[in-house]
Amino acid sequence: MITLQRIRIVACSRWLCTSHCKPVGPNISVSGESGHGSLSFRNLSTSTERRTIMPAWVIDGYGGNEVLRFTKNASFPIIHYPNEVIVKVHAAGLNPIDISMRGGYGAATLAMRRDPLNINQSGREFPLVLGRDVSGVIMECGLDVAYFKPGDEVWAAVPPWKQGGLAEFVVLSANEVSHKPKSLSHPEAAAVPYVASTAWSALVNTGGVSKDNCANKRMLIIGASGGVGTFAIQMLKAWGAHQLKSLEKFDLILDNVGGVTENWALDFLKPWAGAKYVTLVTPFLFNTDRLGVADGMMQNGVTIARKTLKHLCKGVHYRWGFFAPSGPTLDDISEMVDAGQVRPVLEEQFPFSQVPQAFLKLEKGHARGKTVVNVVTGSGDAQ
Ligand SMILES: NC(=O)c1ccc[n+]([C@@H]2O[C@H](COP(=O)([O-])OP(=O)(O)OC[C@H]3O[C@@H](n4cnc5c(N)ncnc54)[C@H](OP(=O)(O)O)[C@@H]3O)[C@@H](O)[C@H]2O)c1
Repeated sequence: MITLQRIRIVACSRWLCTSHCKPVGPNISVSGESGHGSLSFRNLSTSTERRTIMPAWVIDGYGGNEVLRFTKNASFPIIHYPNEVIVKVHAAGLNPIDISMRGGYGAATLAMRRDPLNINQSGREFPLVLGRDVSGVIMECGLDVAYFKPGDEVWAAVPPWKQGGLAEFVVLSANEVSHKPKSLSHPEAAAVPYVASTAWSALVNTGGVSKDNCANKRMLIIGASGGVGTFAIQMLKAWGAHQLKSLEKFDLILDNVGGVTENWALDFLKPWAGAKYVTLVTPFLFNTDRLGVADGMMQNGVTIARKTLKHLCKGVHYRWGFFAPSGPTLDDISEMVDAGQVRPVLEEQFPFSQVPQAFLKLEKGHARGKTVVNVVTGSGDAQ
């Protein structure tokens, strides 16, 4: 039996329509669901209203909380590539990296990622929108997007080189987006993607852990009360990792704290047993900010090689872990959430009008979960 994959051609780039309109003319959708291969003609969207601006919190330069500025005139996102989607943001999650980026952290590397050929002058990243987590609704799809359609409820972790979620709309690659867990509200969902993708990347991709090899392994999460830690613990517990009854040595340590922790934590790994230490607190962007991209990358290579070799001589593996945006990873996490295996730990919510207060709260540290901004309820009323 041949089952046709659903093919959806959505003729609604920003040039053809704006999204808030109800479709009124023909567009084409070829649907092969259930093996019927039916061809249905839909409507081409046209609109008298063509939006070019939206409300957003932006920064125009790096600094403290005073650089955050609300505007009703931020540029409306545009689909540049056929695999992109525009998401109407309902809730946006904040992470420590938003505080760091507000102050200019990673500016050199992120500028290179945004503009690899260095065509634009420096400072062209402004006005910059922060906010790495979004939960919302697909408003518009590029021509190659088959997996989503306008109206789908989605969540995503926005890569740091892209405009963030503290805005009414955000444009993302469809590969970075996933269907939101049905059991979560938008604010709950916005507490998950960045920390969950980071925990997954660090534990699964770097640490080599999976649901099939986790049983009875002994894992230690340092800094477990924060965003990444609360999620990593739930993931490992769902996969059957050992629950501590004695202080024997560990198969894997995930370090969310860094600094001097590195001086003692590796002594708690089982030597010569493939045990790994994965730290999320790395000098990677700090080096490229300080030394420039080329010298900084060289310094990074030297540092990681030196530390890896030093610890390899003691029989343990030293690794740096990184956030990795991935829609398919979020699909897996969505299943775990809807199965009740993991849940968001939402510490505090703020209306869209109180983004600076949300940053202040995050900046104080001592996180016990995530800080989330409700964009929909407050959008447009910030000033
Ligand atoms: N490399 C990457 O791509 C990547 C991605 C995401 C996050 N990160 C980094 O990973 C770290 C964790 O991220 P997060 O989102 O989980 O941050 P978070 O929400 O601020 O959580 C950090 C947690 O660590 C705890 N903590 C701090 N010092 C501690 C100590 N000495 N001993 C035990 N616990 C301690 C804090 O609680 P108390 O202050 O109350 O102790 C807090 O609950 C951050 O530094 C972040 O920048 C890196």
